[in-house]
Amino acid sequence: LCYKEETVKLFIDTANLDEIKKANSYGVLDGVTTNPTLLSKEKEEPMVQFKKICEIVKGPVSAEVTSLDAEGMLAEAKELAQISSNIVIKVPCTIDGLKTTKELSASGIKTNLTLCFSPSQALLVAKAGATYVSPFVGRLDDISTEGMNLIEDIRVIYDNYGIETQILVASIRHPLHFVEAARIGADVATVPLSVIEKLMKHPLTDIGIKRFSDDWEKLKTSLVK
Ligand code: G3P
Repeated sequence: LCYKEETVKLFIDTANLDEIKKANSYGVLDGVTTNPTLLSKEKEEPMVQFKKICEIVKGPVSAEVTSLDAEGMLAEAKELAQISSNIVIKVPCTIDGLKTTKELSASGIKTNLTLCFSPSQALLVAKAGATYVSPFVGRLDDISTEGMNLIEDIRVIYDNYGIETQILVASIRHPLHFVEAARIGADVATVPLSVIEKLMKHPLTDIGIKRFSDDWEKLKTSLVK
């Protein structure tokens, strides 16, 4: 690796195998996040789909529980955790989610606390032992609230107390969300494939390539004469 400190990790936010393979082939993919909506687009039994995803990606793969009560969440979590050692259990930011997180963290199972919309939720899930917290920036922007302010608040609070829960910026909709996440010092950003590709796009790069290749062709043609 070409950096001294831990850099912002890049996860892909999808349950689609082709998208995961494509992003993986770019050499910058650290993990995958899924949710029930993303899985509903795939027409495959979710447990089978998670297994396939874990065969492609070595890093953390978030699989979400759908029960609303702690007992149901724990039962689902135990089943999901059997799939592969890289499965991370995604649990909602609710009281039952807190109880579940406490239990899972005591058994050494990694958790990702999803649907986080406030600093107080982020603080409590960290106290319960969450591995990751997922604040949804795009959905806050959707209701005219600056989503990135939440990331800044959580970063300050976590740094005040040396909290090791990783801030996983979710609901990313465009490249600036990713850049801002890195500027603030978030640990992870989960990004759809279309946005990952936009991160590398620059019109001046394309114009520059075209000019270099046109001039190269001109040179070759003049040498032949
Ligand atoms: O995986 C959770 C999150 O990234 C969803 O994003 O665009 O549905 O708000 P979005």
